[in-house]
Amino acid sequence: MDKFIIYGGNPLRGRVRISGSKNAALPILCSSILSGGVCTYTNVPDLDDISTVCKVLEQLGVVPEKTGKNSLRLHPQNITSHEAPYDLVKKMRASILVLGPLLARLGRAKVSLPGGCAIGVRPIDMHLKAFAKMGAEIDLSHGYVVARADKLRGTRIVFDNTTVGGTENVMMAACLAEGTTVIEGAAKEPEVTDLAGVLTAMGAQIQGAGESTMVIEGVKSLSGTTYEVIPDRIETGTFLVAAGITKGRVTIEGGRAAHVTAVIEKLMDMGLSISEGQGGLIEVDGGCDLKPVHVETVPYPGFPTDMQAQIMALSCVAQGASSITENIFENRFMHVPELVRMGAVLDEKGRTVLVQGIERFQGASVMATDLRASASLVLAGLNALGYTEVRRIYHLDRGYEGLDAKLTALGARVTREKGGL
Ligand code: EPZ
Repeated sequence: MDKFIIYGGNPLRGRVRISGSKNAALPILCSSILSGGVCTYTNVPDLDDISTVCKVLEQLGVVPEKTGKNSLRLHPQNITSHEAPYDLVKKMRASILVLGPLLARLGRAKVSLPGGCAIGVRPIDMHLKAFAKMGAEIDLSHGYVVARADKLRGTRIVFDNTTVGGTENVMMAACLAEGTTVIEGAAKEPEVTDLAGVLTAMGAQIQGAGESTMVIEGVKSLSGTTYEVIPDRIETGTFLVAAGITKGRVTIEGGRAAHVTAVIEKLMDMGLSISEGQGGLIEVDGGCDLKPVHVETVPYPGFPTDMQAQIMALSCVAQGASSITENIFENRFMHVPELVRMGAVLDEKGRTVLVQGIERFQGASVMATDLRASASLVLAGLNALGYTEVRRIYHLDRGYEGLDAKLTALGARVTREKGGL
């Protein structure tokens, strides 16, 4: 398994281009199942998770054609299977997002239960309850969701808690259902709004995307389309933190400040200066004494859980006491013991980690455990005295396109070593 070797201490300088959003691209690719025509997507990040979802789609009969490093054309005319197998779904939980489209297009689906992952149990009960309310028969058998619906019916779906994937799955199913579906308590993430954008481009009738109540009028069919995926707001936030943790000065191209306002606000509270230039450039100057911060992760537009590990790394080298509370996932502090190995002073109390600021991290060998935890260890390595070895960076390759090359281009000393434990 590959690892990163990082020699810390170089302030990042220069420009970096943000890639397309992984969490927008995944549901958008799944939405092609709903279409009778060719779907072309641009600004698709070149990531392992994208390759995995293409394998799932291929298994269903969708023919994927890579037309460039970041562009894909999908041919979903002939869906020949309704089954998403365990060995692919276990690799990438978001494969559960084929469930809604398959039910809507074919009237049946057999999708492996995604199972949990490092950060939590991650049930899909809210997805399944919604489909049942839309008239689907749902059985769980031998680790699979087996669903059937002659015709999905529009209805009112009320999500008691915010679920991004649940909102996206129901949106896609509702596009071809009979009648009107109202989703109360819909997730408002930009990735949900982007999915509504591509569905609308395919002929769907959707009102209220990005708000807590969404209304979807079912239509008879959806056409193919050409669509550009939004930039990745979590990669954008990660580079903002990278500038802060190395006291660098970075210009971020291709990001959307409007998608990371909660992150920008917290980073400016910590002392970073962040401004939006013309053409959507985001300028960040991290040359400051970092002040402590108090963060609680909440659904969009609040502070995103996917940025929790990264801002924790930054708070470790702020002056004074910070606190980080994780409200979305039950086990998203696995970066804590690894950061402690690098000298951080962290005290985990249930959903909150209390941080006592230190001068600087010390380089060490650490283990990546999940995607965003890995990012926080890389960030700590960029700051650390000496060498840091981040092992098992396959976690990173799932969600960050060419991170080592982008960091090196900004003056960081990062090398990728192949193989090893
Ligand atoms: C999406 O996951 C993202 N993944 C996650 O990003 C992100 O952290 C999460 O939304 C929250 O913003 C993709 O978009 C592919 P949820 P999702 O359904 O849809 C519980 C990353 O690092 N829940 O909003 O799976 C669930 O366990 C990844 O890029 C139920 O209990 O998240 C969690 O505690 C990690 N029952 C909370 O709700 C359900 O039926 C939020 O989950 C569904 C969810």
